[in-house]
Amino acid sequence: MNIEKKTLISRSEVETEAFAENLAKQLPGGTVIALDGDLGAGKTVFARGFARGLGITEPVSSPTYTIVQEYKLPSGGMFYHLDLYRISNAVSALAFGVDEFLNDPDAYALVEWPERIDNIMPPHTLRIKIKHLSDTERELTVIG
Ligand SMILES: Nc1ncnc2c1ncn2[C@@H]1O[C@H](COP(=O)(O)OP(=O)(O)OP(=O)(O)O)[C@@H](O)[C@H]1O
Ligand SMILES: [Mg+2]
Repeated sequence: MNIEKKTLISRSEVETEAFAENLAKQLPGGTVIALDGDLGAGKTVFARGFARGLGITEPVSSPTYTIVQEYKLPSGGMFYHLDLYRISNAVSALAFGVDEFLNDPDAYALVEWPERIDNIMPPHTLRIKIKHLSDTERELTVIG
């Protein structure tokens, strides 16, 4: 898929999920997504939709206390949902093995709080920014 910078407004949680679900269906294995956005922006909502798009049916919740949540894809391969909120820098991320999750050619990886490890995110990372506009509105920007 050829993704250029594009912006759209989501008006509900359901719309954000649907956008992420549709995007996931168009991306190949090995895709790494950096999800930028403040606390409560909708990163985990996005991750849930993304997982649905990959065919994952089990519940997807925030991995805040586990750092990484691993899901098996029905097609083989994995979906790694990382939340680096509690990670201070790349050194501590590498210590728990973040490398393996970001460089698996059969896996999709989605990273909340990627700014913690900006210096070690793979060069092919797809960046998505979620900006809080109002209680129910978010601006989603995809930077391919
Ligand atoms: N248009 C929207 N898109 C996504 N979420 C929305 C939208 N409107 C309202 N929300 C609400 O915003 C909240 C987003 O929570 P979520 O846990 O996904 O944020 P987060 O970015 O993962 O936060 P954290 O940094 O704490 O992990 C949810 O309560 C959701 O219902
Ligand atoms: Mg979250």
